[in-house]
Amino acid sequence: ANSGLGTEIVNVVNKLQDVFTAIGSSAAQIDLPQICVLGSQSSGKSSVLENIVGRDFLPRGTGIVTRRPLVLQLINRPASAPAANGSPKLDKSADGDKNANEHEWGEFLHLPGQKFYDFNKIREEIVRDTEAKTGRNAGISPQPINLRIFSPNVLTLTLVDLPGLTKVPVGDQPKDIEKQIRDMLLKYITKPACIILAVTAANTDLANSDGLKLAREVDPEGQRTIGVLTKVDLMDQGTDVVDILAGRIIPLRLGYVPVVNRGQRDIDSNKAISAALEHERQFFENHASYKGKSQYCGTPFLARKLNMILMHHIRATLPDIKARISQQLQRFTAELQSLGGPHGDTSASSVVLSVITDFCADFRTTIDGGTNDLSLNE
Ligand code: GDP
Ligand code: NA
Ligand code: MG
Repeated sequence: ANSGLGTEIVNVVNKLQDVFTAIGSSAAQIDLPQICVLGSQSSGKSSVLENIVGRDFLPRGTGIVTRRPLVLQLINRPASAPAANGSPKLDKSADGDKNANEHEWGEFLHLPGQKFYDFNKIREEIVRDTEAKTGRNAGISPQPINLRIFSPNVLTLTLVDLPGLTKVPVGDQPKDIEKQIRDMLLKYITKPACIILAVTAANTDLANSDGLKLAREVDPEGQRTIGVLTKVDLMDQGTDVVDILAGRIIPLRLGYVPVVNRGQRDIDSNKAISAALEHERQFFENHASYKGKSQYCGTPFLARKLNMILMHHIRATLPDIKARISQQLQRFTAELQSLGGPHGDTSASSVVLSVITDFCADFRTTIDGGTNDLSLNE
């Protein structure tokens, strides 16, 4: 079971990219937004991202674990594509990554040409390179780690894991740690194409949420901020997040999604993502406060919500892509004619344009007709 971003949008984007490849056009690109996590230290940011990707590979834990930005580029690559340099023999027994698969691997920008098929080794390399640049004593650095994951199961998209907001310096941290981290985060979340996952632990007070506060500074209308409530399983007996979900505490246009990630003990015992997701599902289905609306809770719903935001984004950019392609074709046709070239051959261009037009129409039907059950404001 892959909790990652759904196949529907993966297919739509792949189809579009096929069209672009077919016409050899660099003028038309779909710029998918980046997704950034924002929140206090140890609120569960890395855990949320990892669950969205559906693979185990990020360092997580108590204290400041994420100490440099991790820019994670997911790249969709069909399993049927021939592997470059032949498929390696995977030693599944040695590393314990039972999910190792020759169609999914990671590559770091700082280690060109080196393919990591074992996601545990990816995590080790993140830790190693973090320590190499920031030492072992809680130091931080704005220098990002760039990681690309190639897989048939992901949407080509960029996710950014960020250090958490913190106030009091520890270890080798500078006196102005609060400002340094804030500035680091602002660089990412200020971009209008950044979708912000504002993460708050449900067992802390929402009114004190540093993530929400900072998100509001760059996105006052709440057009690109999704609230994520983690650690719902750790709330005191008799308390719940129902009032927050209903928008009665701090309303957010795109709403909140409550999730249950793996706790520290699950991490220590290497609990699998699939088991964690099953536990999350059962938690919401059986909890007195959430069982009536469990379809709006948990990681799969968060992934669907992200899908829908991405779909809307693509829909909004389609007319522009179409305009750019048709402009290019017009220029091309005019050039051909000024060269006294064959008039008949422009028919190939109009075929391409009509393919794109049909595709846009199909796509609109899909998103206008198919996702009514996914209202943005539950
Ligand atoms: P980050 O510092 O915000 O990236 O947080 P991490 O993802 O590293 O998680 C910090 C700690 O909180 C780890 O020990 C996680 O196991 C734990 N944690 C995160 N989310 C949850 C959750 O939903 N429930 C429980 N019980 N623990 C969680
Ligand atoms: Na942490
Ligand atoms: Mg983290």
